[in-house]
Amino acid sequence: MKDYVHIENVSKFFGEDQVLKEVSHDFAEGQVHGIIGNNGSGKTVLFKCICGFMHPDKGSVRVNGVTIGKQRDFPERTGIIIETPGFLPHMTGFRNLQILASLNGKIHRNEIIQVLETVGLPPGLKKPVSKYSLGMRQRLGIAQAIMEDPEFLILDEPFNGLDKNGVAHIRRLLLDLKKQGKTILLASHNMKDIEVLCDTVCEMDAGVLREVTV
Ligand SMILES: Nc1ncnc2c1ncn2[C@@H]1O[C@H](COP(=O)(O)OP(=O)(O)OP(=O)(O)O)[C@@H](O)[C@H]1O
Ligand SMILES: [Mg+2]
Repeated sequence: MKDYVHIENVSKFFGEDQVLKEVSHDFAEGQVHGIIGNNGSGKTVLFKCICGFMHPDKGSVRVNGVTIGKQRDFPERTGIIIETPGFLPHMTGFRNLQILASLNGKIHRNEIIQVLETVGLPPGLKKPVSKYSLGMRQRLGIAQAIMEDPEFLILDEPFNGLDKNGVAHIRRLLLDLKKQGKTILLASHNMKDIEVLCDTVCEMDAGVLREVTV
């Protein structure tokens, strides 16, 4: 199986604090890879290094053969949820996605309507995003991550704020994306999600990443 993400000796410091400690790992293509670990152990920082939002102080990250921060600033065809997605608060969800989609020009009105339905948000909803609940905002974040049919997904706590139905809904959606052969990195504190979805699981422990069996 081909490796989709190749992480080599990645270290990251904030001042004196080393939050990633020579992380080396390969994530295979077409699988779902879970990352678990305590609050503050370094999961989000690792994800930011993979998607080019942060640069490692040492080491390198290659995504689909391309070194991030050198050959390209960001990985191609990648959908990302990291922390709270930044939407324009006074606009509707539909309008927010429309503006984001216009940057690439790959998808249009019909695909946006479809993706909103996929995540369980009414496409015609008139409310501005500032009036969305946490779970609605999370669903919009998922819509934004998947709308351009990425081949690689970086999902940091995608179930955050979702109710029982929302979790079941998004779990089915992720299982479907997995079936389509997408490569997915998933950080979650919920072991059930990890068990249901993941082919491999790693634990981050104070900046050290190791594969575990669950
Ligand atoms: N921009 C930053 N500046 C300084 N320190 C940071 C920054 N981002 C993260 N850190 C520190 O890096 C460490 C790892 O944080 P990270 O967000 O990766 O943890 P996490 O494993 O994602 O935790 P959680 O489960 O709470 O999401 C923490 O000690 C955090 O305070
Ligand atoms: Mg985190």
